[in-house]
Amino acid sequence: MTYTTVRSSWRLSSLLALALLAGAQAQTVIPAVIPTLPPPSASVAAAPIGDSIFPALGQAGLDVLNYDLDLTVDRPGTSELRGTVVLTVTSTQPLPVLSLDFLGPQVLEVRWNGLPAPYRHDQTVGKLIVEPPQSLLPGTKAEVTVRFAGQVGVRPDPDLPINVGWQAVPALGGRVGANFTLSEPDGTRTFLPVNDHPSDPATFTTRITVPAGYTAAASGVQRSEVAAPNGGRTFTFEQAQPIPTYTLAIHVNRFERVDSAAVPVGEGGADVIRRDYFPVGVPADTRDAYVSTGEILKVLADWFGPYPFSAYGSAIVTPRIPALETATLSTMPVTSSNVRVLVHETAHQWFGDRVTLADWSGVWLNEGFATYAELLWAQAQGETGDDMVRGWYARVGRSQTRPLVATTESQLFETTAYIRGALALQAVRVTVDDTAFKAYLRGWVSGFSSQPVTTADLLTYTRTRLGAKAEAALRLWAESPELPPLPQR
Ligand code: TRP
Ligand code: ZN
Repeated sequence: MTYTTVRSSWRLSSLLALALLAGAQAQTVIPAVIPTLPPPSASVAAAPIGDSIFPALGQAGLDVLNYDLDLTVDRPGTSELRGTVVLTVTSTQPLPVLSLDFLGPQVLEVRWNGLPAPYRHDQTVGKLIVEPPQSLLPGTKAEVTVRFAGQVGVRPDPDLPINVGWQAVPALGGRVGANFTLSEPDGTRTFLPVNDHPSDPATFTTRITVPAGYTAAASGVQRSEVAAPNGGRTFTFEQAQPIPTYTLAIHVNRFERVDSAAVPVGEGGADVIRRDYFPVGVPADTRDAYVSTGEILKVLADWFGPYPFSAYGSAIVTPRIPALETATLSTMPVTSSNVRVLVHETAHQWFGDRVTLADWSGVWLNEGFATYAELLWAQAQGETGDDMVRGWYARVGRSQTRPLVATTESQLFETTAYIRGALALQAVRVTVDDTAFKAYLRGWVSGFSSQPVTTADLLTYTRTRLGAKAEAALRLWAESPELPPLPQR
């Protein structure tokens, strides 16, 4: 059909309201557009994913395959951002509208397979509703283009005293302004229209144009660096394996990029590209920890199986914030530039970035495994690790403990997820020998890399792989309201 261009936000909201409230009757009101919508299902189709902690995030049935980003940072260190993103989408149920999470800059234009499409952007609620010419059906793909510019959105962290999402680090003293992403759990929507939930990981192509003197870095492998107007440069990165939206790293800074020897720990012994980014002017000893990155990759790949991406390294940032496991490029504050934190974030590349969460309540499946990696690293350095396990146990014992599955936002990144989560894995380990435990960890990664996970999945997997005793040990640590006894062989 000939599709009438309707860009007015008023028009779309009234169309949606009509479709929702009046059902089929709306067809007689505005026949040019309405017949393409199956009115009775419109409200169902725009239902969020139904996360138990963040019930408004995402869209049920939407499957974003790829995000193709073209971003320009004209004034690093500010909250200004402009760009175009092309989402390649499909669905698992007919979707009469697309409902993307987007708090960010003002939308200038939306296209559906190249043709202008009506949309409504509510920056307060953080949703961008797009109306396709016809429903997006399972087995079909569409390309949705969103052009935007202005100030990024604001999303306070659910428990830390920071805002998540696009970070602006203002120029200070001799330091130039910088920007980077810090998006766990749902900050990517501050600067990109996304299906902002870890159950829908996607591949990314990221192009970033920065002013003269700046370097851009992002998740994935750098494909090119070309001149842009006024002495600027455009950097292109390809993240070819799907990652959750919150793990997308983007950095703009005056960086020194340090390339190191590739590490042959990828699938089938493939080389993993090694690069780290240090802001010009950080203290020289900031770099010390990162010398161990290659060795960390080897130790962890031995326990977890092949490193799941094509590159790995760190981008160092100057603000005093927590480190974050951004995919292929951990975001490491100067103040957390130590080996233990680096081991933790590196382990997340397997647990969180490759094996992704079905629901945020299971975040211990990220944090428990990443914390457990700290023990595996210590043991690879010749320590028994007994002190660490006893230290964990004492720490959990000092506070009110609870089952592993989180029930509120503020519980997500509590000690329980990290330390009780790690102890739960230790409880499994002591029921078997280390050969079986290693096969168990490797099997979890290889078996669940394309299917978002829950605690129930891990319990079932544990029984299948290691038997009833191991499952019972895990279940006790996962579910008991009390503190179970110290795991011992
Ligand atoms: N996942 C991070 C870690 O333990 C912790 C974290 C949670 C975080 N939310 C964050 C870090 C927001 C930075 C910003 O490795
Ligand atoms: Zn962590």
